[in-house]
This record gives sequence, structure tokens and C-alpha cells, in this order.
Amino acid sequence: MRPEIENLPGSKIREVANAGLGRADVLAFWFGESDEVTPEAVRQVAIASLQQGETFYAHNLGLPSLREAIARYTAQLHGPVDVDRIAVTSSGVTALMLAMQMLAGPGDEVVAVTPVWPNLTAQPIVQGARVTRLPLRARDGVWGLDLDALRAAVTPATRVLLVNAPNNPTGWALTRDEQQVMLAHCRQTGTWIVADEVYERLYYGPGACAPSFLDIADPDDRVVGVHSFSKSFLMTGWRLGWLVLPRGHLDAMGKLIEFTSSCAPVFVQRGGEAALGLADSFVPALRQRMQACRDRLIGGLARLPGVQVATPPGGMYAFFRVAGQDDSLAFAKRLVADHGLGLAPGAAFGPEGEGWLRWCFASRDPARLDAGLERLAAALRAS
Ligand SMILES: Cc1ncc(COP(=O)(O)O)c(C=O)c1O
Repeated sequence: MRPEIENLPGSKIREVANAGLGRADVLAFWFGESDEVTPEAVRQVAIASLQQGETFYAHNLGLPSLREAIARYTAQLHGPVDVDRIAVTSSGVTALMLAMQMLAGPGDEVVAVTPVWPNLTAQPIVQGARVTRLPLRARDGVWGLDLDALRAAVTPATRVLLVNAPNNPTGWALTRDEQQVMLAHCRQTGTWIVADEVYERLYYGPGACAPSFLDIADPDDRVVGVHSFSKSFLMTGWRLGWLVLPRGHLDAMGKLIEFTSSCAPVFVQRGGEAALGLADSFVPALRQRMQACRDRLIGGLARLPGVQVATPPGGMYAFFRVAGQDDSLAFAKRLVADHGLGLAPGAAFGPEGEGWLRWCFASRDPARLDAGLERLAAALRAS
């Protein structure tokens, strides 16, 4: 086996979750998904597709009708985008991996803004590339990017800048000005930007979505947009996403998809198309529910003694610290074992996250969050 693969780190979130395996009494907020099922209308379309016998291989790049629907959806949010820049993928994480396969090979340098969902930093390693971490800094619980540090870290030797905003786990979002600086700098250094914008619709600032590189990049810029149906449409289990590529890269991507998954399942793509049809009504309502969950959880956390937390501008997570609890993995395991509370340890997202905990607030039933808060309060009283 290649040593890069043999030495891949295991998931620390799974390590905590495994400690609670088989316990029905655990209130779990450790994974990045809502407990709410995909909209009924979307499920019905997929069922009908299966009943009609749509069980065959399809085009590598996705159904033309879905790609056109994605182009329309993207245009509504970010301005016109040619359908010849869109590839449908079997999930956002596959889209990220395909982008990495397209761009980074053995020895290449990838700079990643961290802390971040660990899949982003593991994928370049699978490719044999080197990852340099560019840490966000926390001040009073609020995470921010140091642009001087970015300019110093991204050099002509940097092949790819990986940036996930709104960010998992911190909720940090980029401002338009920061995006402009990043894009201008990467144009100078010849660095690709892989922009993971899967949380773009879960953004609680002004507008329909978070600032996106697609708003400012030219079609020929070295910018790859990574998107997913998972978070905005409650479709985590469907495994459907897409890439927005620069002009002229689609044929090569089609071949790469052929050798990876060949295509996304047709009935899943039909579901995706139905979801996009609901976007104007469903997504704003989802965002409103998420924002209510966020405010309820952050308010509750802020009232607990010794807890440091700030309101995240995007995403579906509260990222917080508890005074005196510096070993996040040990603390998260104790919370599961002794208090039936399932949270993700900050260390799962890299050394920058050590001492922090991530709590996914996406819930159909906000009262679950209150029950979780009571358990955390009990744990704090006991420690
Ligand atoms: C930052 C980030 N990017 C991408 C993904 C991938 O989502 P999916 O593979 O479900 O489309 C996730 C999922 O948690 C994520 O948090």
C-alpha cells in the first residue's frame, strides 16, 4: 500500500461517535446534517424515476436537463454561467476529490485555510501533494483571516488554495473584499482556487447567499467552485453535487468522472432537478429555520459559565470553547459517556481547532437543542 494511504488519519468525530454506539439515550449533534428528511416532492420524483425504469448508466457530466437547471440556479445567485462549465458529481466530497485529482499531483503544494472539515486536507495527501495550513485566528470566539499571512503563504510555488467559506467548523465567511484580495493574489501567483461553497445558502448575512468566488471570477480564471445538494436541500444521503469549472476544462473532467464513478445515478439526478425547482421557496425557509436554531443554541451556550462562543455568520455549527477543557477529544468522549451528549471535538478539524467543540444546530425540533444545553450545563456543573 502507498504510505500516504496507510498513514491517513482516522476521523476523530467517528472516534467519539463510536464511543456512543448502540446508546439510544445519546443526543447526537456530532455530524454535519439536519435530522429533517428531504422534501417529499423531491423524494416522489426519484421514486417515479425508478418506477419508470431509469436504472441505466447516464452521461459522465450529468443529465443535460440537470446541468441546465444548475446553470439557471447559479445564474440567479451569481450571474450568467455557461452550461459548458458545469459537471454533476456524486456528492460534494467527490467534487472536491475530482478537483484535487485535476489539479494536484505528487509534491505539489496545496495551501488550505484551516481549521476545516478534514476531508479537504486529506484529499491532497491521497494525491501525494503537500498541505500547508493557513490558520484562521480566533479573537473573542470570532474567527478571521489574516490577509498578510495569506499573501505570505500563497507563492508562485503554490498550486492550489483551498478555501471553504462559509466554513465548517467555524462558520467563518469571507467578505467580498477578502475574496477580491485572494483572487488578485492568486492571479499573480498562478495559483488555482478551489472554493468549497457547499454552505453558501446557509448564510445569515444580507442577500440570498454568502459572497461567492463565482460572483467575481472571470470564466477563464483558475477558480473551481464546489457545490452540493446536501446542505441546502437536506439531501445528504443522496450523494449529489456539482463543479463549476473554468472554460475549457469540461471534456477532461468528463473523462476523470468516467474513471471515478462514470456518472451520478439518474434517479438521484432527477431528485436534484426537482430540488432546484423548489429552491426559491424551500431554501429561504430552511435558512430561516436554521437561523432560529443558531440563535437559540448560541444564546443558550453564551449563558453557560465558562463558555466562549460567537454567533457564526454562516454554516450549521456552533464552534465554542469551555474554560479549562483543552483536550477536545477527551472532553467530547466524556460528554458522551457521562452525559449522553454527542459533539464533535475541535481537534478533528486540525490543531487550530484543539480546545474547541463543534455542535451542529440543524434540527427539525429546536427543543432538542435545549435538551442538549441542559446536558452540557450538567456536565459543566459536574466538572
Ligand atoms: C465543508 C464541506 N465541504 C463539502 C462537504 C461535502 O458534502 P457532500 O459530500 O455531502 O455533498 C461537506 C459535508 O459535510 C462539508 O462540510
